[in-house]
Amino acid sequence: MSCQRVVLARQARFDTGRAHGIISCMTIRPMTEDDLDRVMELERAIFASPWRRSFFLSDINRPQGLSLVAEDEGVVLGYAVAWGTQEVHLANLAVCEGERGKGIGGRLLDEVIAFASRSKAESIYLEVRVSNTIARKFYSERGFVPTYMRKGYYENGEDAVIMEREVDSEPRPKSEVRS
Ligand SMILES: CC(C)(COP(=O)(O)OP(=O)(O)OC[C@H]1O[C@@H](n2cnc3c(N)ncnc32)[C@H](O)[C@@H]1OP(=O)(O)O)[C@@H](O)C(=O)NCCC(=O)NCCS
Repeated sequence: MSCQRVVLARQARFDTGRAHGIISCMTIRPMTEDDLDRVMELERAIFASPWRRSFFLSDINRPQGLSLVAEDEGVVLGYAVAWGTQEVHLANLAVCEGERGKGIGGRLLDEVIAFASRSKAESIYLEVRVSNTIARKFYSERGFVPTYMRKGYYENGEDAVIMEREVDSEPRPKSEVRS
């Protein structure tokens, strides 16, 4: 294998196997304080209203929380933050712009779903901008359905779509998904 590395006990390791992807080998592991410079670099580049560093820091230490990074060849390319027990809130999920469409977001989301399943949660929910058609399609393809809108939720007055998925539900076939 071209990218052998030590895998810590709590890490999950994946070969993406995507024919068109450049990522040959990716590790999903818990986020640590040492990741925060890079995570903040991505967060500021990706979001109009980036989280503060202190948000990530408190989530790393949150008892019912899950903070993950996706790493390839020692470089963090994406991250996810979720928390909750009965109802898991997927609070943040992002992938470095140049690395999208290679399955990284999907792997992170799979881990969040597995976390919710281990926590015996009934459902997972998230907020997404109405205008974020790529993310809405991404979640739809993975079994999330829009449930309601939060008017003016974002800093620019944009509405949020709340999307939800039962933990044990199967994603809908792609042919049924509308963006
Ligand atoms: C949403 C996001 C996390 C997906 O990450 P990713 O690594 O690209 O996800 P994957 O490669 O696993 O899946 C890509 C999916 O995104 C969607 N997608 C990607 N590029 C797309 C495009 N140009 N047009 C439409 N859909 C697209 C598709 O559903 C695609 O699934 P498919 O490859 O099975 O068809 C990523 O686009 C991102 O970081 N966006 C900016 C931050 C963001 O919006 N986060 C979510 C906030 S709620």
